[in-house]
Amino acid sequence: MSKRILLILCLCGLGVLPLKAQNTLDQMSLEEKAQCVVGLKRELFPPTNKGVCARTVAFPAYGIPSLTLADGSSGLRLSRRESARATAFPSNMAIASSWDQELVQKIGAAAGYEALGYQVNVLLAPGMNIIRNPLCGRNFEYYSEDPLLTGKIGAAFVKGVQSNGVGSSIKHFTCNNQETNRGHNNALVSMRALRELYLKGFEICVKEASPWTLMTAYNSLNGLPVQESPALVTDILRKEWGFDGLVMTDWSIVPHNTAAQLHAGNDLFMPGSDNQVQDIIQGVGSGAIDMADLDRACAKVIELGRRTWHGTDLEAPDLAPGAAVSRLAACESAVLMENNGMLPLSGGQAALFGVRSYDLVAVGSGSAFVVCPHVVQINEAFRQAGIPTDPELEDLYTKYVAFASADIEANEKVKVHIGLPLLPELALSQTLIEKAAERDDYAVITIGRTAGEGIDRNLEDDYYLTETEKELIGRVCATFHAKGKKVAVVLNLAGIIETESWKALPDAILNVWLPGQEGGAAVCDLLTGAANPSGRLAVTFPVDYFDAPSALDFPYDHPEAGKNYDQTRYDEDIYVGYRYYCTRGKEVSYPFGHGLSYTSFDYSKLKIKASRSKVVVSFTVTNSGGVEGKETLGIYVSAPAGGLDKPSWELKAFGKTRALAPGESEKVSLEIPAGDLASYHPVKGKWVTAAGVYGVRIGTNAEKAILTGKFRRD
Ligand code: BGC
Repeated sequence: MSKRILLILCLCGLGVLPLKAQNTLDQMSLEEKAQCVVGLKRELFPPTNKGVCARTVAFPAYGIPSLTLADGSSGLRLSRRESARATAFPSNMAIASSWDQELVQKIGAAAGYEALGYQVNVLLAPGMNIIRNPLCGRNFEYYSEDPLLTGKIGAAFVKGVQSNGVGSSIKHFTCNNQETNRGHNNALVSMRALRELYLKGFEICVKEASPWTLMTAYNSLNGLPVQESPALVTDILRKEWGFDGLVMTDWSIVPHNTAAQLHAGNDLFMPGSDNQVQDIIQGVGSGAIDMADLDRACAKVIELGRRTWHGTDLEAPDLAPGAAVSRLAACESAVLMENNGMLPLSGGQAALFGVRSYDLVAVGSGSAFVVCPHVVQINEAFRQAGIPTDPELEDLYTKYVAFASADIEANEKVKVHIGLPLLPELALSQTLIEKAAERDDYAVITIGRTAGEGIDRNLEDDYYLTETEKELIGRVCATFHAKGKKVAVVLNLAGIIETESWKALPDAILNVWLPGQEGGAAVCDLLTGAANPSGRLAVTFPVDYFDAPSALDFPYDHPEAGKNYDQTRYDEDIYVGYRYYCTRGKEVSYPFGHGLSYTSFDYSKLKIKASRSKVVVSFTVTNSGGVEGKETLGIYVSAPAGGLDKPSWELKAFGKTRALAPGESEKVSLEIPAGDLASYHPVKGKWVTAAGVYGVRIGTNAEKAILTGKFRRD
C-alpha cells in the first residue's frame, strides 16, 4: 500500500481529517489555542508511549493529532525501561569525519525509518552548533569547527530523516557552545562571527534541506535570551532564510518570558507546563500577546501534524537495516591518525588492553543516548572474525566489566535512561604486561571518553589522559617494543583529547570516536584492512588545550560565577579552529582534515573556472597505492588583501571519491557559489566580496596543499 493511501486511511481511522489551518483556527477557543502550542504534560502521556520525551496536545474535534517528539542525535532515544530498542549510530562528530553527504543522508534515512515505525513524528536532531572549544560537553552531538561542513552534513541528515515523512529538528539555534550554566549563560559574539560561523551552518541546512522544525537554544546572545529574539527567529531565520517550519523551544529548564518567546517566533513550548498555558491566556487577555502571534504558532503546529502524522497503526521497525548502516558509518567515519607500518594487521594473536576493548562507549550520554539492542565489543568482533586474543587479559577485563557494571547500575538508577558513567581504567601489573608481550604478537589499547549535556568536560583526567592511561600506554609500548612487537591505540572518543605528549609511543592510532552499536565490528574491519580508513578530522587536535583560541574564554575550571559562567566572551571572533591555527601559524597535534589511508593518492590536472555566479574547481584523483580506497578532499580558498581581515584559508567545498581500485582515477568537480566568497561586514550590515586574486588550495587537510591555483574576481 502506498504511503499516501496509508496516511489517508490512518487519518480517517482516527477521525483526523485534514482541514485548512485557517478554518481550524476560526473554530478554536483561546484556551484550545494556548494548549495547542504547549507540550502535553508527561502525566497525560498514553501508556503506549515508549519513553519518548514529548508530545503535543490532540484536538480530535479539529483533526489535530497528538504528535510525538523524541531525541536524538545518534538515533532514536526510547526509554531503557521499555522493551523497544533502536539503532545507535555513530555520533555526529564521528559522521562529520566521513565528509560524506550521501552516507549521512543514509544514516538520517535509517534513523527516520525507525522513528516512523515507533510512531515518532519529529526526531529532535541533529545538533548543529559549532565546535568552538574542545571541552564543550555536547561536542559529540555537533559536527565540526567549520560551518560549511556542519551545514552540508546537517542538511544531508535532515533530508534522510524527512524522506520518511518524519520531521527533523535542527538544534540548538544558536551559540549553545557550552553546557556550564547553559540556561542562563550570555554569549557575547560579534555580528561577523555570528553570521560567518554560528549561524552559517543553520543557514546552509535551512536553505538546502528545509527542516520541518528547529529548536531554539536555552542561552542568551549579546544580552537577550535567544528564544526571545525576534531578530534571530523571525527576521533572520524566517524572513531572510525562508524557514517555513515550526520553531520549538529547548526543554525550558529555566522560566522564560512566554509572551516574548511567542512574539519572537517560537511556535511550540516544550516540554510544556500549565503555567505556560496560563501565561498565554492571560497575555492575550491583557494585550501583552498579539492574537496573530498565537494564531501563527497554532497554525505551525497544525501544519506539522499534516506533514508528519501517519496514524498509530504502524509496524515496529526492523532494526537490521539500521545495524548495517551503523557499521558502514562507523567504518567511514574512523580517522587513522598514525600508522607506522603496523596496520592493516598481518595476523597473529592480539593482546587487547584497556577496559574499552571490552566495554566500548557506543554513544554519549544525555539526550543523545540510545538504548540499542546490543553493542558489538572489540573483543567480541575479534572472536567472530576468528582472530585469536590473549585469554588471560580477556578473562581479567570481562570479569572486571561484568562486576563493576553491575555495581554502577545498582547505584546509578537515576541516570540509567541517559547512560551510565564509564568504568575507570584498570591498573595492570608489569608482570601481566610482560607475560602478554611474551605470548601475543601485537597489542591494541583502547582509550575511551564519554560526555553529555548539562556539563562540560574537565581538563584533568578527561582532556588529558589519566595517570593510569598514561602508564598503560607507556608500559605496554615499552614492553612490546622491547620484544620487537607493535602496539596500536584505538581512540573511542566523545571529544578532542590531548595527544601530543604520547602520540609517538604507539605504532598506530585509530580514532573511531563514539562509533555506535557496531563499533567493535568496525574497529576489527579497520584494523584488519577489511575496511580502508577514509575519515578525516572535522576538528583540530591542538598541541595543548591552552592553544585553543577560546581556551581562556571557556569554563574549563568551572568557576561558580562571573566570567564564562554568567557570560562568555567569544573574543577569538571568527578565528575558531583551523581558521586560527592556520592564520597564526600555530603548531597543532593533528590539523583539521587530517587522516591517513592504507593506500595513497595522486592529484593532477587542476582546472579552475570562475564565472560571475560560481567557481568550478576540477582535478583528477588517482589511487597510486596497492589497495582500494576512497579519498576525502577539501578545497580551501584565501581572499585577496585589502578587504576585511580574513583567515588565511577557509574550506569552501569538499568531496569524497568513490572507492578507487589501485591505478584507478576519478575526475572530481566541485563548485563554490560566488556568494560563499563573501564576508559579513559588521558596519555595513551586509555580505561583501573583496575584488582581486583568490588563492585555491586542494588538500586533504587544512595545512597541506597538494595542488594550488588561483582565480580572479573583479
Ligand atoms: C536538550 C535537547 C533535547 C531535549 C529533549 C534538552 O535538555 O538540550 O537537545 O532535545 O532536552 O530531550
